[in-house]
Amino acid sequence: MTTPTQYALIIGSGFESFAGQRRSHEKMTRFGHPSAAVHEAVFEGRSLLTLARHGEGHSIAPHLINYRANLVALQELGAHSVIALNTVGVVSALRQPGELAMPDQVIDYTWGREHTVYDGSDGVVEHIEFTEPFAQGLRQRLLEAAVAANIDCHDGGVYAAMQGPRLETAAEVGRLQRDGADYVGMTAMPEAAIARELGLEYACLALIVNRAAGLGDGPIHADIESSILAAREQAMALLQQFFISA
Ligand code: HPA
Repeated sequence: MTTPTQYALIIGSGFESFAGQRRSHEKMTRFGHPSAAVHEAVFEGRSLLTLARHGEGHSIAPHLINYRANLVALQELGAHSVIALNTVGVVSALRQPGELAMPDQVIDYTWGREHTVYDGSDGVVEHIEFTEPFAQGLRQRLLEAAVAANIDCHDGGVYAAMQGPRLETAAEVGRLQRDGADYVGMTAMPEAAIARELGLEYACLALIVNRAAGLGDGPIHADIESSILAAREQAMALLQQFFISA
């Protein structure tokens, strides 16, 4: 008998309360403490690990998240596959706020973050392949769940990872457009690269919550407030379907 894949969900604000939480693990890793306790949950009959990326009270800024400790903690608790929920702004005409997307590429504009497990401490370094930054198999399974649940989730697109925590200037968004980005967020990198270094299967489910700076009609936060609920509801429905059929 094969062991079922142990999934982990890295969650942003609003997803903290997953039904059926059973145990919490306060982990200490070789890279320090993760953002929060890792919860074991049962979701649609499947065991699942959950971790709040920004901490339980959403108090950790994107550049201060200990991405390495988060992923090592999940791996040490048995995770093989990581579904990352990331809110994003939309840069191209691909999608609208309130919708979902499954990016397939990344451009990393972040700086100064601890971005690799190869920190020299054990004399080992590997140059991982990152041509396809997100695991195709997991992406496909998530996209199939979207189709089965009748949810419109865009397949593909380029995620631009920005340093934050401030939002972009209009000129920066213009540059992202010229660079070929479709979505802009602050957390998929270095998370995706560290996951690859650790051998974890990792995909990003992006919740589009606003038009990027300079592209909307009004304040960005108003855009976010009016679309985050719709994006969250669809993400939950997609995940429900995914775990029913996983
Ligand atoms: N820019 C960067 N990160 C984001 C945005 C944005 O417009 N929306 C949600 N996360």
